[in-house]
Amino acid sequence: MRDLGRIVIFTDDPGWHGRQLRTAFANHGYESDFVSLTECRFAIQAGSNPVFIPGFEHDLPVAAFVRGVPGGSLEEVVLYLDVLHALKLLNIPVYNDGRAVERSVDKGMTSFLLQNSGLPTPLTWVLRDRDEALTIAENELRAGHLLITKPLFGSQGAGIRRIEKMTDLMWLTSSRGVYYLQRFVHCAGAGFSDIRVFVINGVAVAAMRRRGKSWLNNVARGASCELIALDAEMVELAIKATAALSMDYAGVDLIKDQDGRYILIEVNSIPAWKGLESVCDVNIAKLLADDLVTRYIQV
Ligand SMILES: Nc1ncnc2c1ncn2[C@@H]1O[C@H](COP(=O)(O)OP(=O)(O)O)[C@@H](O)[C@H]1O
Ligand SMILES: [Mg+2]
Repeated sequence: MRDLGRIVIFTDDPGWHGRQLRTAFANHGYESDFVSLTECRFAIQAGSNPVFIPGFEHDLPVAAFVRGVPGGSLEEVVLYLDVLHALKLLNIPVYNDGRAVERSVDKGMTSFLLQNSGLPTPLTWVLRDRDEALTIAENELRAGHLLITKPLFGSQGAGIRRIEKMTDLMWLTSSRGVYYLQRFVHCAGAGFSDIRVFVINGVAVAAMRRRGKSWLNNVARGASCELIALDAEMVELAIKATAALSMDYAGVDLIKDQDGRYILIEVNSIPAWKGLESVCDVNIAKLLADDLVTRYIQV
């Protein structure tokens, strides 16, 4: 293999996705290494590289692919994001970059940015005060709506609850002091489903319907996947949502509501694609590697 430099894949759990990416980068002539962000650090001193990445002591990577940012204390997570920000400032492409990861990991910011770009997203409240949260929830229930509560930093359906009746308010819980409340969107058609669109560099490459056992339609929660045709409205919204959060690529979650309108729920900056690939013959890792290499490394 020619020595083009190596790519770092930040992950704590390389697994299938890691292997797919490694193969895809190798096909472009790049070796890649899996590194946990927990092992990276700053060593700030004049005249030497301030960012320490295990295995990249002598030469920093030619690019960083972010497959996972571990949870932790605020300080720990800030350090991981700082490493991503610093690499970008050192002119190393970071895919998706720290800003994109920051914006999308924070569901409150995602909702704000979607709305701020004029995109359809459910009514959402993000606040500290418990009494106000209870009042909002009571008003919603009285008006005949159901409410979803989510941890601000959750993923894969973790910690999401549905408030259906007044007695459910007993366990209206904040996530570390912050309430994220969102009006429940009833999906069109029978049963429960939502839609995941995978966008890479402004192109929707595939979409699937995810059918949950209940209203929670995450693949990690046992939802089944079914390939669906990309329709113009879905594609336009998914692409605009990805742009609103300034992402190179994204997994966009939408729900088609009972009036037939698409509503944006979430824009994932570190989306998995194993479920999607199980129902289509698109090689997502290849498309991601092609995009990263041609747009950022070999420019
Ligand atoms: N406002 C909502 N109305 C209806 N269903 C929702 C709503 N928000 C989330 N869900 C369901 O819960 C799932 C997980 O929510 P999401 O915001 O994507 O969080 P996560 O990061 O955990 O995937 C969605 O894919 C959808 O099935
Ligand atoms: Mg989601």
